[in-house]
Order: sequence, then structure tokens, then C-alpha cells
Amino acid sequence: MDETTPLFGDVPPVYADDAQLSKRTKALLYSVTTFVAIASLYLFVIFLPGYYIPQAEKLKEITRITELGASLIPVPHKGEIERLIMVGDIHGHYTEFEELLNKVEYNAEKGDHLLVLGDFITKGPDSLKVLDYLIDHDVDCIMGNHEFYVLQFYATFHRLDQPTFYYNFSDSQPQFQLKKNIQNDPEFRLARRLQPAHVRYINNCSIIKKLGHVPLKGNKLAPGVAVHAGLRWDLSLADQNPIDNIEMRALMAPYYNVTTPDPDFPNSEKWHRVYNEQQGKPFANFVVYYGHAASQGLKLRKYTKGLDSACDKGGKLSAMVISRRKTRDNDEYELMQEIVQVNC
Ligand SMILES: *[C@@H]1O[C@H](CO)[C@@H](O)[C@H](O)[C@H]1NC(C)=O
Ligand SMILES: *[C@@H]1O[C@H](CO)[C@@H](O)[C@H](O)[C@H]1NC(C)=O
Ligand SMILES: *[C@@H]1O[C@H](CO)[C@@H](O)[C@H](O)[C@H]1NC(C)=O
Repeated sequence: MDETTPLFGDVPPVYADDAQLSKRTKALLYSVTTFVAIASLYLFVIFLPGYYIPQAEKLKEITRITELGASLIPVPHKGEIERLIMVGDIHGHYTEFEELLNKVEYNAEKGDHLLVLGDFITKGPDSLKVLDYLIDHDVDCIMGNHEFYVLQFYATFHRLDQPTFYYNFSDSQPQFQLKKNIQNDPEFRLARRLQPAHVRYINNCSIIKKLGHVPLKGNKLAPGVAVHAGLRWDLSLADQNPIDNIEMRALMAPYYNVTTPDPDFPNSEKWHRVYNEQQGKPFANFVVYYGHAASQGLKLRKYTKGLDSACDKGGKLSAMVISRRKTRDNDEYELMQEIVQVNC
């Protein structure tokens, strides 16, 4: 065997020109790499986040109690409305919501006032469409527990201060817990997509809204209130805990003055049952319109009107329509209320 035969086949000799070329290639490669690096830095750090992550909107304190700006029964210094339409938990079911509004022939220009009773977003397919509709049509709202959770997630995602409630007195913010494992939570993903206008709308929904006069049986009238989950019968509106108001379902024995979100808690009673029984006590003197309780469905008692008929679980979406008409002698109004529903 010849000693000069290379062991691993022919290795081409290296010439000076190739060395030059490789230097130029290196320079070219270097500038291309630098360009790509800068471009992707711009893409990922500046362009994409601005495109996909909306600008952060600082949260304001949540108002606990508001009043309808206008009323069905005329009172001095207040506007009048012809109908008050309250809708239970929509949960992002835009199609059914639109269908329901068509069915009741909702028309703000003819004096209709529309109020959604909380949980209008999350769970269903079109939360953002529902929100856009509510914003575009200047619809009145009550805050539900799911709107509150989304505000918490929003604050967490944007590293803002968590939502708080407006109190006259300083040291009584209710304690609430943040949910765990939030990255996988669909409500967290919804919160990330909210635009500032969406957040301003949700943040402006109050916990309780006084409705002025609403109908009782016969020709009687009573003061009405709207809230998402419920009211404690033994406290004034100002003393209610807002977390109770958006989460409660039952009251615990023996005094029924402690709430629980668990409707099946041992020895508990549904809050609305107690509220009806305690009517006439100093603070239990409203007709309460609420949502939140999908599992019990539409629940109409004399002093409490539960309007969550489980649209998100294939039930129905319900509206309570309170309308007025002039009495026979034509100098006063009487009020009527009826339920209007669509299938989900
Ligand atoms: C906030 O809600 C109140 C009704 O409670 C309404 O009068 C007001 O216009 C709302 N503000 C915004 C900015 O939507
Ligand atoms: C808050 O304070 C004002 C002024 O002192 C008072 O008029 C109002 O009724 C108070 N509101 C509540 C909810 O206590
Ligand atoms: C519930 O009522 C009992 C008896 O009146 C009272 O001792 C207790 O402090 C009340 N609890 C709350 C949370 O109001």
C-alpha cells in the first residue's frame, strides 16, 4: 500500500482564495444573524405583545350601591321609563341574548331600560360579543361573581392592584381569595383579551341597584332591588358584604346570619326562603331580583325573583319585564310584570 494514500479518501487541499471567501461569508452570516436577531427582538418584545396584549386599564373601586336614574312611577327630579327589563345570567350566549331582546321588542328609544343581573360573561362562546353589545347600547349592569373573578385575573395578569369596593368607612374591605392554577383557567384567558373599554364597563357595574317601585301582587307596589346572588335579611343595604352579595346561596343555622355559597350546606336554608319569611323586619323590605342560582332555575317568590334559568347548561334565558300603564281614571300608573324566555 502507498504511504501517501489518505486513509479516509481524498481531502481537498486548502487554498488561500477559499480562506478569503470564508471570511467574507462569515461577515455576511454575521450581519444576517444580527439583523434576524434584532428583527425578532422587535417582533417578540414590541410588536406582538402590543398586538395581542391589550393596554392595561387601572381598576377603580367597585361601587356597592347605585340607583336607577329614572323610574317607572314618576317621582320629582327623576326621569321616567316605560319598561324595566332585567335579564338573568347570559354567560356569553350572545345569540340567545339577541333573540330574547327581539322577543321582548327591546327599544331604548321608546323608554325601555335594560339591566343585566351579572354573569353576562364567561363560560359561553361569545363573552366579548356580549360585552361589546352592552357597551354599544349603554346597557345597565349588576356585577356578578364571574365578572369579579375576571377583574381579579385581569389585575393579576397586568400586575395591577386587585379590585376593591367603595366604602364610606375605611377598614372594612372584605377578604377574598384569588383562585389557584390560573394559567389554565378559561376566565384568565378571557381576562387577558379584555380591551380597556371592556374593563371600564365591567368595573363600573355596581353590586346592588335600587330600582324604585316595582309591582307586588294586586295593585300594590314595593321598593325593588337588583343584586347578583342575594341579600342578607338582617342587614341594611349599606352594611351588606359585597362578596356575600355576589356569591351567597344559603344561610347557615342557627341564626341564618352567616352566608355560604354552597346551596346544600348542612342545616342551611336558601337565602330567599329566609328573606321571604322575614319580610317586614327592619331590613327585609325589598322585592329582590337576582340571578346566580342556575341549579334551582327560575324561582319566583313573592319578595324574591330568581332569574337564572341555566342558559349555559342548555336551559333558558329569562327576562323579567316590568311595564306600566295608566289606571282607569288616568292619573296614576299601575305596574305589571311578566317573564319572557328563549331556549338555549
Ligand atoms: C357607570 O354606571 C352608571 C350607572 O350605575 C352610569 O350612570 C354611568 O354612565 C356609567 N359610567 C360609565 C363610564 O359607563
Ligand atoms: C356615605 O357618606 C355620605 C356623606 O357622609 C352619606 O350621605 C351617604 O349616605 C353614605 N353612604 C353610605 C352607603 O353609607
Ligand atoms: C348572628 O346572630 C347571633 C345571635 O344574635 C350573634 O351572636 C352573632 O354575632 C351574629 N353573627 C353575625 C355574623 O352577624
